[in-house]
Amino acid sequence: MNKKTVKDIELKGKKVLVRCDFNVPMDENKNITDNTRIVAALPTIKYLLENNCAIILCSHLGRPKGEFKPEFSLQPVAEELSKQLGINVIMAKDVIGEDATAKAEELKNGEVMLLENVRFHREETDNDPEFAKKLAEFAEIYVNDAFGTAHRAHASTAGVAKYLPAVSGFLIEKELKFLGQALENPQRPFVAIIGGSKVSDKIGVIENLLEKVDTLIIGGGMAYTFIKSEGYNIGRSICEEDKLDLAREIEEKAKQKNVKLMLPIDTVVGKEFDKDTEMKVVKSREIPDEWEGMDIGEETRQSYIEELKKAKTIVWNGPLGVFEFPRFAEGTNAIARAISSIDATTIIGGGDSAAAVERAGLADKMTHISTGGGASLEFLEGKKLPGIECLLDR
Ligand code: 3PG
Repeated sequence: MNKKTVKDIELKGKKVLVRCDFNVPMDENKNITDNTRIVAALPTIKYLLENNCAIILCSHLGRPKGEFKPEFSLQPVAEELSKQLGINVIMAKDVIGEDATAKAEELKNGEVMLLENVRFHREETDNDPEFAKKLAEFAEIYVNDAFGTAHRAHASTAGVAKYLPAVSGFLIEKELKFLGQALENPQRPFVAIIGGSKVSDKIGVIENLLEKVDTLIIGGGMAYTFIKSEGYNIGRSICEEDKLDLAREIEEKAKQKNVKLMLPIDTVVGKEFDKDTEMKVVKSREIPDEWEGMDIGEETRQSYIEELKKAKTIVWNGPLGVFEFPRFAEGTNAIARAISSIDATTIIGGGDSAAAVERAGLADKMTHISTGGGASLEFLEGKKLPGIECLLDR
């Protein structure tokens, strides 16, 4: 990485503002249901503690749209952090108000505090310079470790870097190492497996990966747009009519670039879009009217797994079927199991594919699971991320 990290700056005994992505899922009782992003932030926080820093953490949670809403409070995160760190994490009642300012001023070296949800201020998402400046006034150094929000040019993810020396934390460093290595210098064969319901969501990733991979495997709802573009019947399966030409162009480009592009051979179809609907397996290019594709079939799973087994680098982004319905999650689960046992660098994009891997209990068997949904997608599209661009160059 060509950006400075916490290891490249003198920070002993300093006041440090750290942007994390603590946008974690919670149930209706405000219990955190997945603490992955909190755990992923610990190495940087612990390193700053070892260096006797006074640490001011900040993050967003959800999309409160610039207003204080108690259900979007970061209080449960402060509690989880206290548990994980074994010290009391001081919670501020506001972001740049009296309480946060007083607590930040009093904060001693070796102590950790958490500001309230930065998105309680509209200025955060507006990347307002005054707001960014106020955040910067809390500290002497800015550390960005919020990979999951690095694709947003917001005040706490990018704007603040104008006012303080800005470096990355260990999480951003790790994400860039694995995702960057896959794109820049992959061990071959390099196989990407891309799912999700819409071609339009993944077009940027597909186009960028076509320049890099040896094989591109397509699954999920977007496969039906490809199959229809070849002139076959897809029944009532999801289809983006305005992307049929694009799908044809992608297939053509893959041929020109000598990239093997794989589409489903058989499909598990359902009568209705419902978890208990009647189901059967049909050929993907002969989906009967009145039926819709919900998952990849067994023959497809086997052909995809055979291809994946040849890979030395695998990037997976997006589920291969309607995985929120257990009867239609089998294709996604089979691929997750297969990837977890292959001797290759295995990188899972964040969001749904990360959730599928976690749910299958296979997380520790992958080389890297990204903590960024939108951010990893944009990175794989080859876009520059504002939260990283703003950091000091090495
Ligand atoms: C995420 O969960 O993808 C990040 O925290 C970013 O959230 P956002 O899409 O609300 O900016």
